[in-house]
This record gives sequence, structure tokens and C-alpha cells, in this order.
Amino acid sequence: MNINEHFKELKENYLFATVGAKFAAYQKAHPERKVIKLSIGDVTRPLAPVVIEAMHRAVDDMAHRETFKGYGPDQTCYGYDVLLDSIRNSYARKGVSLGADEIFISDGAKSDCGNILDLFSADNTVLVPDPVYPVYLDTNLMAGRRILFADANASNGFLPLPDDGVRADIIYICSPNNPTGAAYNREQLKLWVDYANRMGAVILYDAAYEYFVTDPALARSIFEVEGARTCAIELCSYSKTAGFTGVRCGYTVVPRELVRGGMRLNRMWARRQSTKFNGVSYITQMGAAAVFTEEGERQIAENLGYYRNNARIISECLDGLGIWYTGGKNSPYIWLKCPGGMESWAFFDYLLENANVVGTPGSGFGRNGEGYFRLTAFGTEENTREACRRIAALLQS
Ligand code: MLT
Repeated sequence: MNINEHFKELKENYLFATVGAKFAAYQKAHPERKVIKLSIGDVTRPLAPVVIEAMHRAVDDMAHRETFKGYGPDQTCYGYDVLLDSIRNSYARKGVSLGADEIFISDGAKSDCGNILDLFSADNTVLVPDPVYPVYLDTNLMAGRRILFADANASNGFLPLPDDGVRADIIYICSPNNPTGAAYNREQLKLWVDYANRMGAVILYDAAYEYFVTDPALARSIFEVEGARTCAIELCSYSKTAGFTGVRCGYTVVPRELVRGGMRLNRMWARRQSTKFNGVSYITQMGAAAVFTEEGERQIAENLGYYRNNARIISECLDGLGIWYTGGKNSPYIWLKCPGGMESWAFFDYLLENANVVGTPGSGFGRNGEGYFRLTAFGTEENTREACRRIAALLQS
């Protein structure tokens, strides 16, 4: 029996599992200390009332023979029309017109980031930014693909641009970016779209944080950029938009015009999903459909505003300490330069032990992340204020 030897190329643990284990070990050794976690980007606000009401109604539907639902509709890979329509309307507000058959409901962007690779052969070359959300890298390492890195660093504002000297087949872009919080404007994205079309490459565009964008110069969807329909797939999530990290729902957009090797990727993905996936639960889909209603948008805006305020609190703390950072605006992540030239894991230990605050070491996201550190704005306001107070007291002492 041959196993997948490529697993040997992975780090022993997923980054957030390592961070979580260090936090748990410290907390166990010091149960009297209140350790504040600003590491994994997990939400803390409850679901919006419209979502809860829609889910309750859906639960009631399941209780009656007339309204009970089994598998979702198979013509749309199990997406219910009401949800597909609300997603189409949210795109229309960004000036993007999509067909219902271009939207595939998923259990989240993270799963589809990995699953989508079923469409591509193992001998493709993949271009990922460095630093990078580890899922892009690890899923391709597991499949044995060749991986190239696009350097993101302070000199390019952590927003690498395409280089025609680099030949890539699959390109990952996450904007607003995880982990750096940096976000591309439309002109910069157009450079990537033109490059991908020239190369015959496919862009996998992770838009999980698009709802944090407030600057009108920044794109919320790659399909706002001309030419994207022939080269891009967009991965979206309700997790950060509407607090669905535990509920699980997302959507992937595969345009009809996207053709590679004579095959229509939209049809390939439909075939893949109907074979390997049975859809997202009716109750979850009804909750998600409520998010992009007028009232839903108003309610999620309140939650997004809460996290933006946390980002402001962290940014002001760093400004006061004279620490360099990106993100915090148009993004829930703050990517800071470790003070005193410390390495990322050294700063992690220093903060954990002396301020009882946990963040994510930048080096966990790649070589270029060494010397940087990520804080998330998804905590509670109370914890965010307290963490900043402790960080300021420690670094000023
Ligand atoms: C993160 O902290 O980077 C994210 O929460 C991870 C994810 O969304 O999977």
C-alpha cells in the first residue's frame, strides 16, 4: 500500500493548532491568569437576529410533512433559490451580474480552497504570496504541486504584483489579505487579471474579508475587474461577514466563461460537487439567505462596526507605541513589526508570558513573516482594550 508521501513535507501541525496548544499549555500551568486570545480570527459577536429568526422558521419547516426538506435541489448543487438570489443581489450591489448556475453553496471558503484543487492536475505550478494563509500552501503540498512564492514585504506594502518572468498555472490572491490586512485596489487587481489571462492561469481569489472594505478604491470582488470572468474563481464566506465560523456556510463563484484545456470549469465544479458533496443544511442556508436582505445587511453592519472599532483600538495602541503595522483599515487583521527586532515566536512567548496576550507569529505564515506578528480584531471590545492596556504597559516599561 502506498500512502501520500507528500504529507511528510507539511509542518507537524496546522499553525493555529500549534498556537492553540501553546495557549492551552500556558493556561493550564497558570489557571489563575486570564489569558486573552487575539490569535485565530474567530468571531465573538452572536448571529444577527434576522439570521436567528430565519433559522428558527427553517427548523419549524422541518417539523411538518408539507414543508420538510431532505436533500437540497440537485440542479443547483443543493443551493436553495432564495439563498442564490440573495447572493446574486449582493453582487449586483457591487455592479457584478452573476447567473445562479455560477454560484455554488459550500460549507465555507476554507474547505473550498482545498476542494477546488480537484479541478487541476498535480503537475501545475502554484503561485502563493509569502506570507500566506497556510491553507493555500498546505493543500497544494499535500497534492505534490510545485509551489512558487510571490514576495510580500514592507517595500511593496505586502501587495506583490505579477512578474511576467514567473510562469504559474494557479495563483492565490486574498484581499483584504490574511494575514497582513493589506488590500489591492482595482488597478492592481487588473494587473493580476491580465497576467492570468496572458499565462492561461487561474486565479483563486479568496474574498472572505470583503465586507471589511470601506475604501471605495478597493475591490470587494475580483469580478469588478474587467477580464476576470475568463481567469478567476472567487471563494466567499459568511464566517467573517456574518459570524458563521461555527455555523459553516460559504459560496464559490465559477464563471461560465472560464475554460482551460478545452473544459468548462463551471461544469467540472458542478460535476465534482454533485459527486463529493451533499450540500449545506436547509436550516443553515435559510439563515445565510437572511444575511443579504436589507435588514440583514443593516444588522451585520453593526457587528462589522464593532470589529472595526476593535481594529481602531489596536491601531491606536500601536500608534502610541510607535510600532509599524499594516491592516486594521479595510481589514480585521493588524500585522505589526515585532518591537526591538524580536523574532515572531520570541515575541509570541514574550507577550504570552508577560502580558498574557496571545497573537499569531508572522513566521507561521511564511519566511517573509519572520519578525512580524498578527493580532485580530474579532475579540470582544473588553478583551481588546485590556490586551492593548497590557501590551502598552509591557512595552513602555
Ligand atoms: C485565521 O485566523 O487566519 C482564520 O480564522 C482562519 C480561517 O478562517 O480559517
